Amino acid sequence: MISKRVSEMMRSKVSYPLARRYDVRARGDINLASNENPFGPSPRVVQALRREVARVGSYPDPRAPELKRAIGDYVGVKAECVAIGNGSDELVDLACKAFLNPGERVLIPLPTFAMYELACRVNGGVPRFLELPNFEWRVEELKRALTDVKLAFMGRPNNPTGDGISLNGLRELLAGGKLLIVDEAYVEFAGYSVARLASRLENLLVLRTFSKAFGLAGLRVGYAIGNPELIGVLESIRAPFNVNRLAQAGAITALEDQRYLRKVVNMVGQGRTYIRRELLKLGMRVLPSDANFLMVDVSPLGLDAPEFCDFLAKGKIFARELSSFRGAGPNYVRISVGSPWQNKRLIGELKKLKEGS
Ligand SMILES: Cc1ncc(COP(=O)(O)O)c(C=O)c1O
Repeated sequence: MISKRVSEMMRSKVSYPLARRYDVRARGDINLASNENPFGPSPRVVQALRREVARVGSYPDPRAPELKRAIGDYVGVKAECVAIGNGSDELVDLACKAFLNPGERVLIPLPTFAMYELACRVNGGVPRFLELPNFEWRVEELKRALTDVKLAFMGRPNNPTGDGISLNGLRELLAGGKLLIVDEAYVEFAGYSVARLASRLENLLVLRTFSKAFGLAGLRVGYAIGNPELIGVLESIRAPFNVNRLAQAGAITALEDQRYLRKVVNMVGQGRTYIRRELLKLGMRVLPSDANFLMVDVSPLGLDAPEFCDFLAKGKIFARELSSFRGAGPNYVRISVGSPWQNKRLIGELKKLKEGS
């Protein structure tokens, strides 16, 4: 009954490595495992959602013109260069559906976000993994790896390393003509983007989300930026009502409150600097990050990643151990930047750990 490729995925246990190894629900629990915005959405978004709730009896506008216009203005592209998805997860999947033939290969530099592999496999593609040597983006190696694939996924900044390929490097890869899907889920924290470039090129699609800096992870809204032909393909194969009414209203209002966005980005930037500095003082290797999380080698504390996360979980702080991420190894964890008091609690617990060891 089950298709061959899905049975194969189930047999080899390829599925999304869920962060919730622990039950993060009680008040006071500190979830630093999911790269969410610790401040939540703008209060104006919450008001807009309350107003929109009264209208959930009717379907959302399937073309979402108002949201596309608002995104277009925010990014600096025309609305026809924007497709909207049920989270950027859906757009990763739609891109594979749209551009892959069965058996074609997809370049996936590692370690990275697990959805690229999942979407590739479930749509009949074959991942071609490339482990980033020392977590560095070496353009010559990427160029070589691109020669025998149909398309490539690249986080910029990448989850979980927190950095990305340089702009010049990316331009070199684009010159080769293969389709590059650049995931800018963390763009607001990074401050660099190729979204405008995507609207003019034939082989670049940029994915973004409202789940991170805008604090709308529970609403599920993401978007793709590309030239109108590429965007038209995604639009033609998506389900008609993929982005619900609340999600559309919430995202439009989130874009209107740019002051709130700037505040969040500033606070997260300060938190990142603080955590990084303190972790370095504790002797850990911390990769430089442009996003709202840090990838950290915890082995200098004499623990591996699962042991480190179990220790923090006892104090109700939840970090993401990366041993289930392909290519990350046993000693790395990913820690999202929290609110100031959460960051202080984290560092306090780690100081206790260090003193006890
Ligand atoms: C690199 C990257 N892309 C996409 C997503 C998913 O975003 P969304 O919530 O829009 O599906 C995540 C979430 O963690 C991510 O890290």
